Amino acid sequence: MVNTFEQLEEQIKGCKKCKLCNNRNNIVLDDGNRNAKVMFIGEGPGADEDAQGKPFVGKAGKLMNQAFKGIGIKREDVYITNIVKCRPPMNRNPEKDEADACLDYLRAQVLLVKPKIIVLLGNVALKTILGSEYGITNTRGKWMEKKDILYLPTFHPAALLRDETKKIYFWNDLKELKKRMENL
Ligand code: URA
Repeated sequence: MVNTFEQLEEQIKGCKKCKLCNNRNNIVLDDGNRNAKVMFIGEGPGADEDAQGKPFVGKAGKLMNQAFKGIGIKREDVYITNIVKCRPPMNRNPEKDEADACLDYLRAQVLLVKPKIIVLLGNVALKTILGSEYGITNTRGKWMEKKDILYLPTFHPAALLRDETKKIYFWNDLKELKKRMENL
């Protein structure tokens, strides 16, 4: 049981629950506001995140920041984290055993932050949190409620870098999010 972010950070720094610990330079716990009403969950750190110890600071993060700016969401007002806290090699997706090993840390983060809305960025976050039966292309933009938390699945910003046609959907999903944030 973890009661503070400091305790959580200490635990993760010493974590050897999965093989991702072998190559990490830094653990990547979170960024943004630890009292936010909205939490964003990505997949796992890339090279820039591993080097800086912060989520979404590389190319995908910059694109997300641009979208935030355009829509009027402040990065400092939301809480940002990932399914796994250590970088998967070659930026591959986290494997199921890695995501499972890291899940208790994410549960602790949810208990500490107490978000009203969780935005699931991409398939890994969606399937890990809501179930492997879901797929992001069909589920994005559909709000789902579970245990008093509203979930909004949307595309991962890295997917927009690979396929520009997805940008409009991501933007629209964030606009809907912004509307809901105004009424929280
Ligand atoms: N992609 C993610 O899923 N998370 C990050 O922190 C960076 C890129």
